Amino acid sequence: MAELDNDLLLRALLREPVPRTPLWIMRQAGRYLPEYREVRAKAGDFMSLCRNPELACEVTMQPLRRYKLDAAILFSDILTVPDAMGLGLYFVTGEGPKFRNPVQTADAVKALRVPDVEAELGYVFDAVQTIRRELDGKVPLIGFAGSPFTCGTYMVEGGSSREFATIRRMAAEAPELLDRLMNVVADTTIEYLNAQIEAGAQAVQIFDTWGAALEPDDFRRFSLASMQKIVDRLTREKDGRRIPVILFTKGAGPLLADLAQTGCDALGVDWTTDLATAREYVGDKVALQGNLDPATLRESPGAIRQGVAETLASYGKGPGHVFNLGHGITPDIDPDNLGVLVDAVHELSPQYHD
Ligand code: CP3
Repeated sequence: MAELDNDLLLRALLREPVPRTPLWIMRQAGRYLPEYREVRAKAGDFMSLCRNPELACEVTMQPLRRYKLDAAILFSDILTVPDAMGLGLYFVTGEGPKFRNPVQTADAVKALRVPDVEAELGYVFDAVQTIRRELDGKVPLIGFAGSPFTCGTYMVEGGSSREFATIRRMAAEAPELLDRLMNVVADTTIEYLNAQIEAGAQAVQIFDTWGAALEPDDFRRFSLASMQKIVDRLTREKDGRRIPVILFTKGAGPLLADLAQTGCDALGVDWTTDLATAREYVGDKVALQGNLDPATLRESPGAIRQGVAETLASYGKGPGHVFNLGHGITPDIDPDNLGVLVDAVHELSPQYHD
């Protein structure tokens, strides 16, 4: 396997020294880019784009052509896993993801099985291989999956939700049933992420967008425990290099301290916790990734530079910081504004490293 030209991301995730802070952006391939919208229109719909390795590779590469980013992230979605479990994922424009067969009874939970991951999700592993070939060692490729709880919210509610009423009722009234759901999704996710790593993913991130909607004890029992199971069973080394694991629980706050104990390498932090405070929660255990408020990208170039400066200063000196937004970039952002952010990280971050 060829060496990487730029391995700053992998080094920073392992808290090794780097000359500047590496960065990538959650949802860096997406609708804010006109070239993405063009390929997406050509593909017809979002899932057809995900299922076509050449087109998925093309949109993965698009942000790297525009910006000096230190990683690519596989273009796919977290809901491919429940789709592979037979739920029938589809997208309705303006309404987000939906499932034809949501999991809404005890019998439906009990009927769920770990699918044949190679057969059902082979298109993802093909995309990983295609992207690695196209990247040709320039920057590392990040693979990803959703957390079992975050996937579970969509599986049980049948789509996006504000209150998570059904799954929270399950946590309160039928906790063993929710344990069972978490376990089967975790077991599938272990096979899925290990196959991404086998195909060439050089780091992996678990997106736990909704885990912090639970009260802390329930967060620990359902979301944290199922992510712990995944962390314990992932392939952690390949071709002589460690495969860093990043856990991103949006809104984790003080629960970052619990997440840091899982044995992951890094934690994503959203913008509601300062990086300085996050460092106090986690000590020297893990690297931190984040956390500029995505809304800052709607402001002026000066305000964006200021936001970058404050984020870097909040983490402060020393290794173990990967710059990112605190959540994904939104479709309304002017692509030039992301350029301002990227340039500011390159310009302002060396002073925080020896
Ligand atoms: O970061 C990247 O560039 C990689 C690609 C990626 C997508 N989704 C592409 C996508 C990743 C990592 C995700 C993760 C994801 N998907 C999460 C967790 C992270 C987060 O942002 O909280 C969640 C909750 C989902 C589920 C999902 N998929 C939603 C809620 C939506 C949005 C629906 C909408 O219309 O706004 C999607 C669709 C989706 N996934 C899009 C993209 C680029 C937009 C689809 C389109 O092009 O029409």
